[in-house]
Amino acid sequence: MRENASAADNHVHMPDFASALVPALECRRLRKTYGSGRIVLSALDFTLHAGEFVAIMGDSGVGKSTLLNLIAGLDTAESGDVLIDGASISSLSDDAATRLRRQKLGFVFQAFHVLPHLTLAQNVAVPLLLNGQSPTPAEDMLAAVGLDGRGGDLPRQLSGGELQRVAIARALVHRPRLLLADEPTGNLDPQTAHEVLELLRAETKANHAATVMVTHSEAAAAFADRVLILADGTLHARGPQ
Ligand SMILES: Nc1ncnc2c1ncn2[C@@H]1O[C@H](COP(=O)(O)OP(=O)(O)OP(=O)(O)O)[C@@H](O)[C@H]1O
Ligand SMILES: [Mg+2]
Repeated sequence: MRENASAADNHVHMPDFASALVPALECRRLRKTYGSGRIVLSALDFTLHAGEFVAIMGDSGVGKSTLLNLIAGLDTAESGDVLIDGASISSLSDDAATRLRRQKLGFVFQAFHVLPHLTLAQNVAVPLLLNGQSPTPAEDMLAAVGLDGRGGDLPRQLSGGELQRVAIARALVHRPRLLLADEPTGNLDPQTAHEVLELLRAETKANHAATVMVTHSEAAAAFADRVLILADGTLHARGPQ
């Protein structure tokens, strides 16, 4: 992995007064049930400030991916609200919500969702193009996740861990205010995982962004400023280990 290749290096965003006061993310009394009324999330409250890197842990099936999907507006809650930079997603029109997601959100999906017919550079450039920006930073972002010079490759030529790094590069390339990462190091060897986590943390701090990382790994959680446990439908602070 290339040293000092983080796309954040040249662009440090200073927090302005307003963004220091308004949380980057607020979940208020979120409730979600599935199927025959099984409650997955119940009255879930969560506040995340700009510059914070939070890890969410919890047993498989407890609702971690569901929570990220609700925050991203990819799924809807039965009740409660999600505010991003103070804007309530549910109160926005579909167009405005889509724009907000494009500009402010980066999402590393548990199942990657890399587009198979696009090259790696094209995949990483998608958020830039959707925001009307130049695709040029895509190659640097690939280099930052250790895929220097691989921009012309197609996803089928990659291992699972390499695909995961493409997904991470795509989530970071437009410097989102809010990064949602679902098991971002689940397919990586320990050394690569360490480097990717350092990158996620560095980008969070340099861009004054806010990051929510779902993980089953204690080693990954150790990179976070705080660790929350999802259990019984809501988030609990975890005390010192
Ligand atoms: N679309 C859906 N329809 C019905 N049930 C669902 C749906 N999506 C998720 N669930 C259920 O909701 C619960 C929470 O799922 P979720 O994927 O959020 O768990 P998770 O905490 O991310 O688990 P893992 O650690 O295994 O990824 C599970 O019991 C799952 O079966
Ligand atoms: Mg999950």
